[in-house]
Amino acid sequence: MTVIRYKVDKGIAWLAMNNPPLNALSHALRAGIVNALDRALADPKVKAVVIMGSERAFSSGADIKEFTGNAFYAEPFLPAVVDIVEAADKPVIAAISGACMGGGLELALGCHYRVALANAKIAFPEVKLGLIPGAGGTQRFPRLVGLEGAVNMIVSGATVPASTFEGTALFDVIAPDSLESAARDFALKLIKEAKPVRRVRDLPCKHPQAEAFLQFAKTGVTAASRGLTAPVRALEAVGAAVAQKFDAGIATEQKVFGELMVSDESKALRHAFFAERAASKVAGLTDKTPQRKIATVAVIGAGTMGGGIAMNFANAGIPVTVLEAKQENLDRGIAGIRKQYEGAVAKGKLKPEDAARRAALITPSLDYAAAAKADLVIEAVFEDLAVKKSVFQALDKVMKRGAILATNTSTLDVDRIAAFTKRPGDVLGMHFFSPANIMKLLEVVRAGKTRPDVLATVLSLARRIGKTAVVSGVCDGFIGNRMINQYSSQALLLLEEGASPRQVDAAIEKFGFAMGPFRMSDLAGNDISWHIRQRHYAEHPKQRKMRIADRVSELGRFGQKTGLGWYRYEAGKRDAIPDPVVDKIIVEERKALKVASRNVPEAEIVDRLLYALVNEGAHILEEGIAQRASDIDVVYLAGYGFPVQRGGPMFYASRVGLGSVARRMRQFGWKPAKLITQLAAAGKTFDDAPPAKKGGRRG
Ligand SMILES: NC(=O)c1ccc[n+]([C@@H]2O[C@H](COP(=O)([O-])OP(=O)(O)OC[C@H]3O[C@@H](n4cnc5c(N)ncnc54)[C@H](O)[C@@H]3O)[C@@H](O)[C@H]2O)c1
Repeated sequence: MTVIRYKVDKGIAWLAMNNPPLNALSHALRAGIVNALDRALADPKVKAVVIMGSERAFSSGADIKEFTGNAFYAEPFLPAVVDIVEAADKPVIAAISGACMGGGLELALGCHYRVALANAKIAFPEVKLGLIPGAGGTQRFPRLVGLEGAVNMIVSGATVPASTFEGTALFDVIAPDSLESAARDFALKLIKEAKPVRRVRDLPCKHPQAEAFLQFAKTGVTAASRGLTAPVRALEAVGAAVAQKFDAGIATEQKVFGELMVSDESKALRHAFFAERAASKVAGLTDKTPQRKIATVAVIGAGTMGGGIAMNFANAGIPVTVLEAKQENLDRGIAGIRKQYEGAVAKGKLKPEDAARRAALITPSLDYAAAAKADLVIEAVFEDLAVKKSVFQALDKVMKRGAILATNTSTLDVDRIAAFTKRPGDVLGMHFFSPANIMKLLEVVRAGKTRPDVLATVLSLARRIGKTAVVSGVCDGFIGNRMINQYSSQALLLLEEGASPRQVDAAIEKFGFAMGPFRMSDLAGNDISWHIRQRHYAEHPKQRKMRIADRVSELGRFGQKTGLGWYRYEAGKRDAIPDPVVDKIIVEERKALKVASRNVPEAEIVDRLLYALVNEGAHILEEGIAQRASDIDVVYLAGYGFPVQRGGPMFYASRVGLGSVARRMRQFGWKPAKLITQLAAAGKTFDDAPPAKKGGRRG
């Protein structure tokens, strides 16, 4: 493959990068750019050079697959490429369309002039991988857009259209369309006027109160980035653009970049990035697996979940019918959806006309016939097998042939639900998380008979509606909730042994979780876990009863919605205030259990909560419920507030070392999963776990 398409026309050398899909700056492409540039500079006929990409991307930046090998640092290293371009003695113009991000944007900053399509996507996404721009971006960008503009972009990692920079020195021309002709006209004009090269490094970088601004920014960024270090360190590098000469500033950037590159945070974030991509690769599916067309959707049940689920489709422009059993419930559900859209408009997050367009895509109905033509129907009625049975039998009768039938059940057996129909191959689970229109995670539950094309269709639909999909096999709680049950049990046992809800929450929040288990339960509603425990007690009569939690719920302390839960809440506030009523219950139950209360160390709290997740996660892998350890990490990062800088429970355990994890589990009196002891004995990590035989299905 030619990584650079080279041509000379009317004194202009065109260097078109050709490394699909997004012109990642791999070693081959970097070398190609330098070679083609040398050729252009050596050719007396060439008076100006244009570097361009494809319609999809000028360049998406560094090739992060190279981060783990030597190729990333192999000559020509990206910063050197940018310097070589900048040092050219003929004018070099970047012609920018599509994604122009990270290293791609830095390459454009090395060019002497920039012409961009108005809708080109501009970003420095490095902080999302725990890094900062490392090829001069922190020094050149503020010289063109000012210190504040540069800080905003580099610290947030946000993507904005090129038109945002109208009026700054970043772009010389912002073209509405026809990039090539805009770049040609601009280059011919430069040649005609014999314009000299103009190097960004030579521009001044000033701010009237740089120090005060940076100090102010540091306070805000530290608070907003919740334990992530890269955004704060980015300020250090951008600040050097003002405080130091260009070359010294570059040295500061390189130092910070190098330190971040080897940091645990960046490794975890990079793991998360690759894990999400890997999750879309499912055993038994290929690019050639046929897919069904999904143009219309129906949702059965307009409760907490049904309303949010319907909004996902309307937001993506897909018409959706919402079906309820009773008019009043339908009215309530639709009113709830309308209220959400109005709220988004009031907050300025949505334009009124967009809200109206989305709302108009939702059709309420009480009649199954209205759902019959949908390509996909998602059931979100009460969590009761008998109700699900009647709904699926009704759907089986009315839905057209080839329609996909999905259930949003959290705990019920999807194989049994599929068996209520005569078309189990068309049935699967689509387990959304609450609030369903906001939470990223979607567990796609592959039942025993789910057809590959059904699974493939739902996975690509998930992408259309902006969800992060992970395939799970059938088991109680699927991947996420099955693990969280173990975590919650440990949290409750810790109370029996001497810890308080506050201590448990504080310890795991310090580790990085957004919310500890008790605050979380108060937010979700303690009645939900109470009902699940009741079912477990009934199904497994010998199971140990969690009396403290049961007593809290028996008092109607369902959490924030009742003003009382594990904590108490003042009207209109969300602050969790420890409550002596709960302390008293805990003390009484400890007495009843004859447990001598002890001081539980913070480290023990953290390890017991985390390793409860890890041990269950290992069982889930052994059983083939999850296809790979990194899928479990994706579930926890996208759906359970696991701190992203820790990479997910399985990645975290592998970093600690599975031998140490197993030893700690034994100290707690647990039996580590066989997979953990086997991998530990071989000095391996969860990444080395053998793949599940059937790919996300109980094997
Ligand atoms: N609430 C959560 O956090 C959550 C998260 C994931 C999955 N789920 C699952 O989603 C499903 C729905 O949960 P929810 O919290 O939205 O419950 P909900 O009680 O808020 O809503 C259920 C709705 O279904 C309607 N309904 C009941 N029987 C019906 C029928 N035969 N036909 C049409 N409509 C009917 C009810 O009127 C009600 O509006 C359950 O299976 C639950 O386990 C819930």
